[in-house]
Amino acid sequence: MIKIITTIHEAVETINHIKKLGLSVGFVPTMGYFHDGHIELMKRSIKECGETFVSIFVNPIQFSPGEDLARYPRDLERDTAMAASAGVKYLFCPEVSEMYPEGFQTRISAGPLASNFCGASRPGHFDGVCTVVAKLFNIITPDRAYFGMKDYQQLVVIEKMAEDLNMKVKIIRCETVREKDGLAMSSRNSYLSPEERKAAPALKSAIEKLKEEIIAAGGSKFKDFNIEKAVERQKAFLTAGGFKGVDYLKVASADTLKEAKNAGELSSMAGVFIAAAAFIGKTRLIDNAVFGLDKKTVNAHE
Ligand code: PAF
Repeated sequence: MIKIITTIHEAVETINHIKKLGLSVGFVPTMGYFHDGHIELMKRSIKECGETFVSIFVNPIQFSPGEDLARYPRDLERDTAMAASAGVKYLFCPEVSEMYPEGFQTRISAGPLASNFCGASRPGHFDGVCTVVAKLFNIITPDRAYFGMKDYQQLVVIEKMAEDLNMKVKIIRCETVREKDGLAMSSRNSYLSPEERKAAPALKSAIEKLKEEIIAAGGSKFKDFNIEKAVERQKAFLTAGGFKGVDYLKVASADTLKEAKNAGELSSMAGVFIAAAAFIGKTRLIDNAVFGLDKKTVNAHE
């Protein structure tokens, strides 16, 4: 039986009971409208922890005005059934007024890791993410929390927050789950028309082609490799393939998220992060690749 908890008070009481039994707590924070990516996080937590909590909360403070907060897909009945069949026993689904009662005013400031990529396009987004994740960590007090690598910048920002603020939780990185044609699973894929859906896997293809070029160029120590031109080629591929615009396509360090502007900077990086966000119709999709430059590390990252 799955238990739906809506108040912080009941969540804390339930967690206290679980901890008294000596069980570890796994946590999967989500905004709901589950897909297989979410289910994989839940299954991994269930496998690795004594009890697993999943939260569903569409967090208003991580959306900018004009973004899709109002139309963000929601279906608690469907989500509950999916979580229950994955084996989840506790769903925490607070109202906005429970998480942000009148007078709420504190924000966590995410810092420089949040300044580029999605952070540049969505000002305040990562402050909102960090604030809600910190609140959820304080309520659930998990031993382990599971995050997908599709939101790689979010993952790195949260890892840093947990380290900087001495949070006891261990952040677990989980591979991106993809549709058969390569499209990264996302609740926002539900916005796509059939035609847009057909074109959407080009985002993953563009990232893969850029990754292959980088790995090939790395083999010859980046002699004559021009990142800017390689990125421009893939941006053109995306717009020719039906994307309305590319918000960003960038190459950076997987550790520091510092952008590589030229081959010299790229060659000094142990891990590479290719980050992309692009519009198909009105929908903004994101995807990435994280890999190393020698064969051994490439495989270790996959
Ligand atoms: O990745 C998400 O779904 C959200 O950003 C998160 C981590 C649940 C915070 O609202």
